[in-house]
Amino acid sequence: MKKTLVLLGLTALVAAGAPGARAQGVDPIEMRQVGMDLVAGDYTGIRAIVAAKGDLKTLEGPAKAIQRFATVYPSLFPKGTETGHDTKAKPEIWSDSAGFQKASAAMGDAAGKLAVAARAGDESGVTAAVKEIGDACGACHRGYRAR
Ligand code: HEC
Repeated sequence: MKKTLVLLGLTALVAAGAPGARAQGVDPIEMRQVGMDLVAGDYTGIRAIVAAKGDLKTLEGPAKAIQRFATVYPSLFPKGTETGHDTKAKPEIWSDSAGFQKASAAMGDAAGKLAVAARAGDESGVTAAVKEIGDACGACHRGYRAR
């Protein structure tokens, strides 16, 4: 609970600073789109290594990157960024921001499990966590991303 409050506070802080950030040339819409591309690239690489029965320990780093990104991702949707740059963000991100935060946290939790399983070389744990991450991508896209 305390963690959620801290996260919400942080999000509010970033949101409040967003117009200034935009004026300095950092565009939250581009940042979140690039971030998703990086997450997608990480995830594709993770699946390829699992499919090729590669070294599971190498998955810990990318898993941690996704886990960390999930904690900041919702802060890249400050008010005022509902449109522009061909954004696919649905209005529900703002009308149901608690649900959106949860959806991002679900990806982070799954990625955290992957990091632990990868470090332990636990093959079935890795497989389960990879699937859980994929489910988290799909669930959030269904609710919060326009086609
Ligand atoms: C918490 C919600 C959420 C989760 C979890 C999530 N996404 Fe997304 N994703 C979005 C939203 C919202 C957009 C559209 C953002 C925009 O256009 O402003 C998006 C956009 C994308 C894009 C297009 C990026 C671009 O260049 O515009 C890709 C690719 C993508 N997601 C892949 C993934 C993959 C793979 C995962 C899981 C590993 C994932 N996403 C998890 C919400 C999510």
